[in-house]
Amino acid sequence: MGQFDMVKDFFLGISRSRISFIGGMLVTITAPFLLTYMLADTIWHIKNPYSGAAVYLALGPVFLGGLAMVFIGAFFFRGERDTHLFTFEYMRRYFTKPGMFHRLRKNIFLIVLLTSVNVAVFSMFLYRAYHYMESTSFCGQFCHTVMQPEHTAFQNSAHSRVACVECHIGSGADWFVKSKISGARQLLAVVADTYPTPIVTPVHGLRPARDTCEECHRPELFHGDKLRITKRFLPDEKNSAVHDVLLMKIGSAGDRAKSSHGIHWHVAPENKITYRSTDHSRMVIPEVILTEADGTQTVFRTPDADELFEEATSADEMREMDCIDCHNRPSHIYLLPDDALDLKLAAGNIPRDLPYIKRQAMEVITVSYETSELAHDAITNQLNNWYKKNYPQLVKTNPELLDRAITGVIAAYSENVFPKMKVEWGTYVNHITHGPDFDIGCFRCHDDMHESPDGKTISADCNTCHTLLAIEEEDPAILRTLQGQEM
Ligand code: HEC
Ligand code: HEC
Ligand code: HEC
Ligand code: HEC
Ligand code: HEC
Repeated sequence: MGQFDMVKDFFLGISRSRISFIGGMLVTITAPFLLTYMLADTIWHIKNPYSGAAVYLALGPVFLGGLAMVFIGAFFFRGERDTHLFTFEYMRRYFTKPGMFHRLRKNIFLIVLLTSVNVAVFSMFLYRAYHYMESTSFCGQFCHTVMQPEHTAFQNSAHSRVACVECHIGSGADWFVKSKISGARQLLAVVADTYPTPIVTPVHGLRPARDTCEECHRPELFHGDKLRITKRFLPDEKNSAVHDVLLMKIGSAGDRAKSSHGIHWHVAPENKITYRSTDHSRMVIPEVILTEADGTQTVFRTPDADELFEEATSADEMREMDCIDCHNRPSHIYLLPDDALDLKLAAGNIPRDLPYIKRQAMEVITVSYETSELAHDAITNQLNNWYKKNYPQLVKTNPELLDRAITGVIAAYSENVFPKMKVEWGTYVNHITHGPDFDIGCFRCHDDMHESPDGKTISADCNTCHTLLAIEEEDPAILRTLQGQEM
């Protein structure tokens, strides 16, 4: 034919190829939706997890696939010229033709223009899709049932404005890739319905807390103690309010002028604490090793350590202590029934004027129910019946009081218990405590039973971690002093 116009040949190739044709259709149909959505998302930051999934996980890939098909098609169309286009022979003849430089400029211009548009759309898509997959609505709501406990507890925590990815992934490409691989595996588990209920904790693949928490918190800059005042309510007729007042020895992880001390002494750079637990849950810790800056090692062991390790069913692990060994529930905080009700009573969601409400509420929420709906019905019926029987006058004159209480009690229950995911009261243990029985959290190590060869123990002395200023007192003298009412 003698005519060498690469652009014309290229478009001819596209127009004759069925693959390109289908690709072109896909691009034409999806592009308006995709571009409009991305523009809207850029401006208004759309929070709906489902429209995001439809666009970024379905429409986007179809668009990109279509675009790829358009170009691929050009290489596979049927026709007489096809075998020449983009072969070495074609190129050689094309570039040696007289007068080609003039045409080449035009072609290069067109190719650069087309490529720029493609790259712009493509990178905008990747950027928006990346943001979508990092969003709290994607993590927390897309896998609705599975993540519901975590998402609910997260929303009630101090970290409700911190995106899931800040703690679960952090910055850096390697953890992003790792998280997407494990995310894809989790997505498959959800689709195939093979995920565990409840979701197993601790999370063994969690990024070391020092890389994530310390983006925002720096315990080496902490100093001093922290006063912790908790209002509690007794199960008596008046729902009497009492106070716990503790001075927490938060301490510091040490920085230049300061030496490390107190609770955050554990995470000071000069102290390395490693421990071995008997199983994956890290609940039983028979051996703790402290390595100091000068290399001195102290091994603390319980008398029954050898026995425990021998009996251990799953492999024990060696782990270096970090923030998560105490703050394992910084954002997914599941309360115990007592604490959940006290919080609602203190906030007024459950009215304190309703006689015995603390006691009665405890009774109805600590029963195990099959589903949330059954729980809500049972809580409503039982409270209604009990108050109608025992305080008929009050229910008649002030029905609103009981209704408000029921709403509050149901909230206390449903923010912490998720029957569908088998998350019951206390399923997820919080390590920032020792519990009423002094056997969990800090007391996995601080039980006076872990002993070094020279007889030193990890202290269980109540004043190691806090000063108890008042426990369950109605009108603690210390609070009056602090408020300047009594010297
Ligand atoms: C402030 C940090 C932080 C934020 C924000 C955060 N998480 Fe977590 N998450 C953790 C820690 C710490 C653990 C528990 C690690 C352990 O015990 O090993 C955890 C555990 C989990 C678990 C395992 C089950 C469990 O409760 O132990 C899931 C699922 C989870 N997070 C999902 C989410 C989702 C979804 C979001 C966002 C809605 C989110 N996380 C936000 C820190 C965070
Ligand atoms: C993106 C920043 C960010 C990251 C990452 C982060 N936090 Fe926080 N954290 C905050 C902010 C902001 C607050 C204060 C919220 C408030 O006062 O209401 C806070 C509060 C806290 C508190 C006090 C909670 C309370 O109830 O008063 C603790 C403890 C804490 N964070 C621990 C952690 C731990 C442990 C991690 C790592 C797993 C972590 N944080 C990761 C921003 C962050
Ligand atoms: C040995 C257990 C332990 C370790 C390890 C630990 N913390 Fe804490 N942290 C505590 C306790 C206990 C408190 C006080 C909780 C309270 O308010 O009663 C606390 C309080 C905090 C607070 C709130 C301080 C305030 O003034 O309200 C932040 C933030 C915090 N820790 C962050 C971290 C970070 C980040 C790390 C890891 C580098 C870390 N912690 C390691 C036990 C620990
Ligand atoms: C994995 C084991 C382990 C856990 C869990 C643990 N600690 Fe410790 N803690 C130690 C060891 C080891 C020492 C050093 C003992 C010694 O040298 O006397 C220590 C020392 C301390 C000290 C004294 C620090 C100083 O000023 O010298 C405080 C305070 C403390 N821990 C508080 C806590 C609190 C609060 C918790 C729970 C939130 C906790 N620890 C959980 C192992 C642990
Ligand atoms: C290794 C550190 C450590 C030791 C030792 C320790 N505690 Fe605690 N204690 C804590 C922490 C951490 C909390 C929880 C603070 C919080 O909830 O923020 C706590 C909370 C408490 C509370 C308040 C409970 C509540 O929810 O209001 C009481 C009461 C208490 N401890 C009593 C004691 C007594 C009595 C001893 C001595 C037998 C003791 N503790 C020894 C770390 C310790």
